Amino acid sequence: MIPSIAVNSTARRQSAFYQDILDGLRAENKHLPSKYFYDETGDKLFQQIMNSPEYYPTRCEMEIMQEQSGEMARLFTEHSPAFNLVELGPGDATKSWFLLRELQRKHAAFTYYPIDISANVISWLETKLPATLPGIRLHGLNGEYLEKMQQVKSFSPNPKIVLFMGANIGNMTIAQATQFCRQLHDNMQPGDLLLIGFDLKKHPRTILDAYNDRQGITRAFNLNLLARINRELDADFNTDLFEHYPTYDPGTGACKSYLVSLVDQVVHVAGKTVHFRENEPVYMEISQKYSLEETKNLAAQSGFVPVHTFQDRKKWFADVLWQRLP
Ligand code: AVI
Repeated sequence: MIPSIAVNSTARRQSAFYQDILDGLRAENKHLPSKYFYDETGDKLFQQIMNSPEYYPTRCEMEIMQEQSGEMARLFTEHSPAFNLVELGPGDATKSWFLLRELQRKHAAFTYYPIDISANVISWLETKLPATLPGIRLHGLNGEYLEKMQQVKSFSPNPKIVLFMGANIGNMTIAQATQFCRQLHDNMQPGDLLLIGFDLKKHPRTILDAYNDRQGITRAFNLNLLARINRELDADFNTDLFEHYPTYDPGTGACKSYLVSLVDQVVHVAGKTVHFRENEPVYMEISQKYSLEETKNLAAQSGFVPVHTFQDRKKWFADVLWQRLP
């Protein structure tokens, strides 16, 4: 655990968190960035979401990794005899663990570079992974994805295989995802591989239920951001006065969550006032769903060519393997 640091009000006002929150709450269409869901409480709630009966993406991708890691490892080792395996946002690596084990079984010459914004995640992986994967060459990097990817180049000239799993790409709009994939492209060499996890379009009810679980965990996950703002930015949100409102548009594949203000109210955030009209929505998160065709378009738009598609038995999720074009 990293010790928490007492933050004075000047530092609080200068933080990116403070700036992003106030910008979002003062915008004409209020919004809050979902990347701030993940404080300690948010991490725990997300773990609970992943174990809830309605939230299927984690189970689908886990099935892919448990059953098809052998084939993935075969494609990777065929691609190059020695490589750097870079994982963006590995979490506790429960899914990529299966792939790492298969690569070890095949005596692949690789170094695993997990990159995460959380120092806790990196130090946890550095202590825990060698216990179950003895001999693994691991170099954890704490920081922003693209910046740290550049650093990998300076450690080793070997080809890169990049993993971006967990449907994290869904938390970007299609335009943002295209821009992000182009940036990945610019940080990779021709021929390098990229494996991305996409949650696929399916019956709209199945998708909506995954973001509206009966136990109310996803509701608590969204409201926790207001509670976090109270805790860290000296604010006075009454979370009872906001309602979790998830939506899914089967046409566009955009699953969006909002918090709706139930009354006309004023909230104070670090000494600033924010007015909410009755029924005013605050846009919290997008979880974009794709068709396989749309994943191919994204590859083409960002300079990659699809090489292989791994899917679960229900075909609800896809881990797609792309190769970077010259
Ligand atoms: C992390 N991310 C892929 C999750 C998703 O499905 O968009 C976050 C989440 N939000 C609500 N439930 C899960």
